[in-house]
Parts: sequence; structure tokens; C-alpha cells
Amino acid sequence: MEKYILWNGDILTKEEKDSFVSFEDRGYQFGDGVYEVIRLYKGMAHLLGPHLERLFRSMKELEIVSPFTKEQLIDQLEKLIAKNHFDEDGNLYIQVTRGIQPRNHVYERDLTAVYFAKIDQFPKPLDLMQNGVHVTVMEDIRWLRCDIKSLNLLPNVMAKASAQRKGCYEPLFVRDDIVRECGSANFFLIKDGVLITHPANNLILNGITRMHVLQLAKELTIPVEEREIAREELYTADECFLTATPIEIVPITAIDDHIVNGGEVGEITRKLQAAYEQSLTEWKHEVGLV
Ligand code: PDD
Repeated sequence: MEKYILWNGDILTKEEKDSFVSFEDRGYQFGDGVYEVIRLYKGMAHLLGPHLERLFRSMKELEIVSPFTKEQLIDQLEKLIAKNHFDEDGNLYIQVTRGIQPRNHVYERDLTAVYFAKIDQFPKPLDLMQNGVHVTVMEDIRWLRCDIKSLNLLPNVMAKASAQRKGCYEPLFVRDDIVRECGSANFFLIKDGVLITHPANNLILNGITRMHVLQLAKELTIPVEEREIAREELYTADECFLTATPIEIVPITAIDDHIVNGGEVGEITRKLQAAYEQSLTEWKHEVGLV
């Protein structure tokens, strides 16, 4: 982790801040808060607008009073990146908890939210992106507001740990025999040239990468369907992949014992990966990174 963090508007060293996380913080006691993970390429935040929009939406849905305006947060994040002299590839983590109050399930309406942001170095995971990963199907036991990027991640945490013990990179959540998403990524399937993914409703997180990939597919004139995917469709899919901010597009080469596309990364997945890379190159030019 980089040396400086953003803590309630101040930029502090990690050591300075470690001494005052309140035990009465509702995030600490109830997981009562929200977060975002934003990709930094050469120290520049990618798709910052959509990430902040989702952060504000998550806060609104949970009635958390935002401790900053969008402009204030952007200004503070820029200062955080500058103070760390961070110019590599990394992840910017922002967390906002509802605030501090003597433990009570019922929250006070006028609490001052507590927030911090930190930067972790994270190079592109080229091995995963090029060779793909295995996933394992698991029952989705999460709540019914998966569209909120809440700190309450215990079902995801337990499922990911269990998946990793089976040698899989991600759990693939199924609810009511419908494939929803992964533990910390969205899921896409390709059949007969059509790109299919779950609709953006309360049962998945509407990933920023998901939306970007759908846009790229449109530009490539790849037909897209946002619809429910029955579990059985997994076993006749031509290609599958997952998307998330830190890992972009990662092919899936096996679902439990079922091998996808002979274990090879599929053609449309590769096309979308290339389009993603191309869009990054264009963006880097736009923002003056190259
Ligand atoms: N997770 N679905 C879930 C459940 C997620 O947790 C994530 C991201 C995504 C992908 O969203 P995006 O494309 O906006 O990153 C989908 C982050 C990376 C995390 O929890 O660390």
C-alpha cells in the first residue's frame, strides 16, 4: 500500500491514522457503509465519473449523508495521488461508513459519515487475462440489494474462500437456477455470436467494467442480450468471461468439471479484450498520459 491515505479530508500517513478508528464506527460494527474500487493507470483514475456516480447512488440508497461533494472528493483524490507520487497501475479504494454512534441497529439521521481512500499498486494480471480462470457454481445467499456496493461482503468473502480452496478463481452465483454474477466480478456468456449478461437489476452489481464492455460490444456490432441466463446454458456456452475493475476482462476456461471452448480463450472474448486495450490507449492519449 502507498504511504499516504485520505482520511476524512486530510492526507495522513497510515501510522497517523491507525490510532483513531472508532470502535463505535457503524462500518466496523455493522458493515454499515459503501465502497468503490477505481482503476489507476499510470496514476490516473479510469472511468472516475461512473464510479463516483455509483458511490453517490450507493450512499443515497442507504440514506448515508455524503460527507463530500463530487468536486471535493475528486480534488482530495487528486491530492492523494500526487502526495504519494503515484504514477503506476494500481487500485484506488474509497470507503464511506455511516458514522459514529453508540451501538444501536437504528441509525441516527444526522451522523457525519467517516471516509478514507488508499492506493495499492496492482499491475495488470496478464496471466489471468491471457490464460483464463476456473470458476465454481455456488448458491447465491446474498441479500436482495446486490446493486448497492455495500461493505457487507460476508457471503462473497465466504464463497470466494471456498472457491479458492477448490482451486477456482471465483464462485459463480446461481439464484433460482439463474446465473447472476461472480463473488467480485460480473459474468458474461457468448452463444452463437451473441454476448449475454444478466440485466442490471437488484440481483447484481452493475459493474462499471460491465457497462464499458457492453459499450465496446455495441461499437464492434456484436449482438448483446441483457437477460437472465439459465444454469443449463453454462454447459452449452461457446465462451464465458468475467469483468471487474482491477482485472478488466478475464476468460473462463472451466466451470467446475465442465471445460469451456476446449479450455481455450474464445475469439469474441479476445476481440473484446483487444477493444478494451484499444479504448485504454485512446483514453491515455486523451488525458495526456502518452
Ligand atoms: N468488485 N460484482 C461484484 C459483486 C463486485 O464486487 C464487483 C467489483 C463487480 C464488478 O464491478 P466493477 O466492474 O465496477 O469493478 C461485480 C470490486 C472490484 C471489489 O469488491 O473489490
